[in-house]
Amino acid sequence: MAPLAKPQTDNTQTPQFNHWSEGVPEQSDIAHIPGDAGWPVVGDTFKQLADPHGFTQARIEKYGKVYKTYAFGGWNVALIGADANELVLFNRDKIFSSEQGWGPVLDQLFPRGLMLLDFDHHRIDRRALSIAFKPGPMRHYSGALNSGISREVAKWEGPMKFYPAIKELTLDLAADSFLGIPWGPEADRINTAFVDMVQASVAPIRKPLPFTKMKRGVDGRAYLVDFLTKETERRRAQGGGQDMFSQFATATREDGEMLPVDQVVDHMNFLMMAAHDTITSSATALIYQLATNPEWQEKVREEIMTVTGGPDGYDEARPLDYDDMGKLELTEMAFKEALRMIPPVPSMPRRALKDFEFGGYKIPAGQMVGINIYWTHHSEEYWENPHTFDPMRFTPDKVKARHKYAWVPFGGGAHMCLGLHFAYMQVKVLMAQLLQRYRIESVEGYSPEWQAWPIPQPKDGLQVSFKRI
Ligand code: HEM
Repeated sequence: MAPLAKPQTDNTQTPQFNHWSEGVPEQSDIAHIPGDAGWPVVGDTFKQLADPHGFTQARIEKYGKVYKTYAFGGWNVALIGADANELVLFNRDKIFSSEQGWGPVLDQLFPRGLMLLDFDHHRIDRRALSIAFKPGPMRHYSGALNSGISREVAKWEGPMKFYPAIKELTLDLAADSFLGIPWGPEADRINTAFVDMVQASVAPIRKPLPFTKMKRGVDGRAYLVDFLTKETERRRAQGGGQDMFSQFATATREDGEMLPVDQVVDHMNFLMMAAHDTITSSATALIYQLATNPEWQEKVREEIMTVTGGPDGYDEARPLDYDDMGKLELTEMAFKEALRMIPPVPSMPRRALKDFEFGGYKIPAGQMVGINIYWTHHSEEYWENPHTFDPMRFTPDKVKARHKYAWVPFGGGAHMCLGLHFAYMQVKVLMAQLLQRYRIESVEGYSPEWQAWPIPQPKDGLQVSFKRI
């Protein structure tokens, strides 16, 4: 296992603010930026929650691609388009803090996760966690994914709501691949605590008052922290398996010291959160597109049959070999197109640590800013017929010809999604297991409404039918 460097303090990179509540610019400092305060007290909070994409479009038409809004108790400056994505995500001049941008949403329940660290500390911890995504461990997860998905998907014949089914399956798979815990009552308890935490992270009441989601989330966190702390110690003493958690638990730094136990626990908690609803949402988006675009479903199935060899007479579906993942090119392009149309993380927050300029406007240090991935993914500036499903947008030539930051479902730069290869792998195994067995159907003209926030999901749970081939 590669030794890891110890975090060093670099004073040139120390943020000017220790917390997002400090040093908030005065309203007069952003008076020159176009935008309005919306309704008294609540600003545009409810408008944004009710229709985030419509709200963004209306603001861009009225004010342009840099505008301010007042919502969730503070001012935010929206920076719109692929150039804005590049400036913020690539973050060449270390202007933007992810820690202080995501802090108000995630700090209470998922403190000190990778997205809540900046610069040197972030880089060193990220390197530590990367060991869990190297080919050896990935090969192991692929075996666990194939057997877990095959077992469950075999029962899916007939009409069903896909979203709740894939959500539950993804939780069970995570207990196995991430934590090394077999499916059963212990995994169920962990899953419940975890779901409570995720729901609390976006709950409107931010104090853990009795009977609130936040209280359930805080209790869930206490349970998981206790469980993961004991398990880290046990795996260190007895040796762990090949699951992600065991990799983190036994990771060492350059000087041979292990990561502190509380950091292992925080990273694990955060990683499970980052993985869960994103995979669930994007797998649902792809199933929706394949159900409503049967010609593409057929092409993806053909590729899967060729690569796996198809059902072998004993089993209904052959596993997708780890070494064959890269051969599912069309499947991957279809997934990328689903991620374009319905990105699981539709916008990303940051806090400016220094004054900067964008689109002709000076924006002061301390300002909360946000980029809008959903808008970029649907803008005619970068995409022809943006509302049509077309996986061929992702041929190497087309990708090369486009702005590098026009398609960023996994973010970019230092904080780019650490688990993106895991996500591709899980979705490819899922497709291989499903499409070898079933034709995915939906009613004529099916077009469910999607809840846009915080992570997209179809309001009806996605009503599809799996018909045996
Ligand atoms: C389709 C599924 C997924 C999508 C769309 C997605 C999207 C993202 C995005 C946009 C970010 C960066 C956010 C920002 O910069 O503000 C991110 C970060 C992250 N993701 Fe994912 N993610 C997915 C799946 C996963 C999975 C499966 C894992 C773990 C196994 C994971 C672990 C992480 C971690 C640890 C970070 C923080 C990285 C850092 O700050 O250095 N994600 N993800």
